[in-house]
Amino acid sequence: MYKIAIAGAGYVGLVAGVCFAEKGHNVICVDIDEHRINYMKKGKSPIYEKDLEELMQKNYKEKRINYTTDYKNAYKDADFIFIGVGTPEREDGSANLDYVYEVAKQIANTVEKDCIVVIKSTVPIGTNDEIEKYIKENLKNDVCVNVASNPEFLAQGNAVKDTLTPSRIVIGTENIKTQEKMTKLYENFDAPILCTNRRSAEMIKYASNDFLALKVSFINDIANLCEIVGADIEDVSKGMSYDERIGNKFLKAGCGYGGSCFPKDTKALHYLASRARI
Ligand SMILES: NC(=O)c1ccc[n+]([C@@H]2O[C@H](COP(=O)([O-])OP(=O)(O)OC[C@H]3O[C@@H](n4cnc5c(N)ncnc54)[C@H](O)[C@@H]3O)[C@@H](O)[C@H]2O)c1
Repeated sequence: MYKIAIAGAGYVGLVAGVCFAEKGHNVICVDIDEHRINYMKKGKSPIYEKDLEELMQKNYKEKRINYTTDYKNAYKDADFIFIGVGTPEREDGSANLDYVYEVAKQIANTVEKDCIVVIKSTVPIGTNDEIEKYIKENLKNDVCVNVASNPEFLAQGNAVKDTLTPSRIVIGTENIKTQEKMTKLYENFDAPILCTNRRSAEMIKYASNDFLALKVSFINDIANLCEIVGADIEDVSKGMSYDERIGNKFLKAGCGYGGSCFPKDTKALHYLASRARI
């Protein structure tokens, strides 16, 4: 069993932490929000997700999970440090990586043993490479740190189930040892594991979110056309969904996509693509 530190006890970090504790690991969730930490120490979840609070209480009682603002003690001897802090959009559409870099700085200053830093936050392609370079250049102690990309695919409302039995686990690494350790960490999760390089793992996350957003926008465009030509969009999307290649998910015409991820992730990929030299 491993010691796992999670940087950012928000939606992604807290659920990941609770699920790793449920799998028997020793988890410490770190957040800068003291109020949130104290709340969680009382066994309360700051978000509503089915089964989350029960699992928080069970694993806290069995001493497999704890919560802290003291990142130094959390990171110094962890086997894995997961980064699950926010990556909000900037005005120009690009992803703001300030929170990720702040955690990278804290890690570089504090780790006292070899560890794997795992980026779960959704980050632009190339960020894992840059974070590894930054940490290696700023390490205070003589230790080996490798960075792995492990994007999160949970849907809000189904977060615990999606984390314990995800559709897939994507592991992006640049060396075989890190890949093996990451694969071992996930060996008792019931899901297919896809090992790729870090840039592919980062792209899988953006491409997946953007494809779902595209489906929503596409069916809304078809709905607009249906209104003009006298077709019924409900019948049209139902008729399309029988085709297994299309499916019935994200094919309901409505007010368009929203939420905390799709708007920022579509803008971030657009920003990235507009700057990529093809
Ligand atoms: N929410 C989702 O459904 C979802 C799904 C998949 C991927 N993601 C991605 O995961 C990332 C996190 O999203 P979220 O919704 O969990 O964010 P969130 O805002 O719920 O949580 C982020 C947490 O990080 C904390 N934090 C900030 N700086 C910190 C630091 N230096 N040390 C420790 N904690 C710090 C904040 O206080 C906050 O509690 C984003 O990149 C997001 O795009 C989110």
